[in-house]
Amino acid sequence: MSAGREGKKGTQGAGQRDAPAVGSPGSSKVSPRRWWWRWCGRRPWRFLAVFAAVLLLASYLVCAAVLRRANALGRRCSAGWNPARPRLRIAMVSFSDERGVLGRSGYDFHDAGDIVDRRRPPSWSKILAIQRHLPDYDWVFWNDADSLVTNFSITLDSVLWTVIGDAKFDDLPDLILTEDFNGFNAGMFFVRRSRWSDGFLQTWWNQTDFIRFGSTKSGDNDALKYLIRELPAEERRRHVRVSPMQCLFNSYPWVFTWKSFYRLLRSPGSFWRGAYSDGDFMVHLAGLDDKREWVTKILNGT
Ligand SMILES: *[C@@H]1O[C@H](CO)[C@@H](O)[C@H](O)[C@H]1NC(C)=O
Ligand SMILES: *[C@@H]1O[C@H](CO)[C@@H](O)[C@H](O)[C@H]1NC(C)=O
Repeated sequence: MSAGREGKKGTQGAGQRDAPAVGSPGSSKVSPRRWWWRWCGRRPWRFLAVFAAVLLLASYLVCAAVLRRANALGRRCSAGWNPARPRLRIAMVSFSDERGVLGRSGYDFHDAGDIVDRRRPPSWSKILAIQRHLPDYDWVFWNDADSLVTNFSITLDSVLWTVIGDAKFDDLPDLILTEDFNGFNAGMFFVRRSRWSDGFLQTWWNQTDFIRFGSTKSGDNDALKYLIRELPAEERRRHVRVSPMQCLFNSYPWVFTWKSFYRLLRSPGSFWRGAYSDGDFMVHLAGLDDKREWVTKILNGT
């Protein structure tokens, strides 16, 4: 298509783009339709290749647009704030200095960057950071450093109560997390101050067999998945709660790669529940390379 237009432009100038190609002086005698016919008429694979490319591009645009507008299209991530619920003492803990931004949220924020144990990949030290701050709060909300609050009208209390529901104090869960296409995610989660949590954190730290150096995985997430999988059903039911919606506090931007496209086709529901959409509480740039660019994109709403 563009080849035909270029040809015209060369002889006629930009102002007459719509003039018919056939018969105009100097242009090739082949109309775009004939050209197209010649190009792929006797070679169906060319037609198929172009058709597949267009189809792929169209499905990418549709997927990206739908996921980015999931909330406007009726997705519900949180149940909203119920003022009758007691206010909880919650701290956000992370290995990043986000205080400037988080000051607005009204919750304590602790940068635990000084606690990192150099004998393991840094990600493991989130366990130490939580252990340090948990005694001073009802709950600690752990945030990986590549995350960002994107909607300050959503409170941590409303997020927690959405998951806890009507549970009485004795039935409160101790660990609240989300699930993505890979299973439980250790990037963003809540831990309650309790004896069970103390034991669980210590057991998690003790899973030294999972430690990995030099790969994209550090092993702490795999250790967490393993521990939860191994819990007796009753213990797991009592102490671990998975948010039905990942987008409640752990949304990932959906980016086109062959892998993400394949995953989307395999489990569209998981992406619908977890893709970052305008209005979400937080975004987690899990596994993305150009994080800075993403932060700018998201803050600008593009
Ligand atoms: C963790 O390991 C330490 C040292 O090996 C041990 O003393 C402790 O009992 C272990 N704790 C748990 C909960 O596994
Ligand atoms: C933030 O969340 C609230 C509650 O879900 C929603 O009403 C509001 O539109 C969101 N803000 C933005 C800027 O999207």
